[in-house]
Amino acid sequence: MRDKLDAMRGKRALITGASAGIGRASAISLAECGVHLVLTGRKVAELEAVAQECRAKGVQVVALAGDLNDKPFVRQLAQTAHDADVFVNNAGILNYAPILDMPVEECEQMFATNVIACYDISREVAQHMVARGGGHMIFITSGSARNVGMHAVVYAATKHAVSAFAKGFRLELKSANVRVTELAPGMVDTDMRKGITHPDVLKALAARPYQPISAQDVADGVVYAVSCQASNSPDLIELRPPRA
Ligand SMILES: NC(=O)c1ccc[n+]([C@@H]2O[C@H](COP(=O)([O-])OP(=O)(O)OC[C@H]3O[C@@H](n4cnc5c(N)ncnc54)[C@H](OP(=O)(O)O)[C@@H]3O)[C@@H](O)[C@H]2O)c1
Repeated sequence: MRDKLDAMRGKRALITGASAGIGRASAISLAECGVHLVLTGRKVAELEAVAQECRAKGVQVVALAGDLNDKPFVRQLAQTAHDADVFVNNAGILNYAPILDMPVEECEQMFATNVIACYDISREVAQHMVARGGGHMIFITSGSARNVGMHAVVYAATKHAVSAFAKGFRLELKSANVRVTELAPGMVDTDMRKGITHPDVLKALAARPYQPISAQDVADGVVYAVSCQASNSPDLIELRPPRA
């Protein structure tokens, strides 16, 4: 364990979606392991609060707020994190509704952030990693990258796409010494579902017979992936609530 911590200390990581939930927990956990950070999210105050919490653990932190749908911002972010050894590709949005009540605009919004913006930043970061001779990309997908649940059809489609990115980036970049991990959590206790208003969905969520896992559980998976020796590529980590 001590060897793993020693190997992590001094690495540099870029985390998207670091202002909340899984990204926030991952930032704090990696800071505790001595990993320097570039953190991003749209909410400036929340992002700066996470950055301060990480700096208090003794690591260097750059906080760069912006929208991943803004292409010039994505270039600026990738340039800022040009020397990142690790990329936690985490930002995402979710809305649940039955197909007949899900307007195409919401479908477009989820695809824009979860798929197109995800591809854009992944490709930018990959170019820097290839130029530097290697790196480690961690794609946060979901249980919805494998299964399609009621009311979650569009979200599941976006997460299936991100899972395909993980497989494809691994395939094309392994010869450049870039490792790719897909981390697929089941339901996690974050604010991600707070915007849901559809009554059928709220009823279904309330009826679930299990408790979600925590953002810290997922952050532990991120730390495990980052802690793996260079000789080991953890391709897929799936996490789920025990009774789900
Ligand atoms: N919660 C779950 O049950 C669950 C399960 C499996 C997988 N996941 C995946 O885990 C990831 C994180 O989810 P979470 O539960 O931690 O959600 P969360 O608490 O809502 O956090 C989402 C993060 O993504 C950022 N983000 C969203 N849209 C963005 C945009 N356009 N540009 C920049 N940043 C943006 C948010 O930043 P701002 O708010 O500052 O904009 C926030 O930091 C997502 O990819 C999600 O699909 C979640």
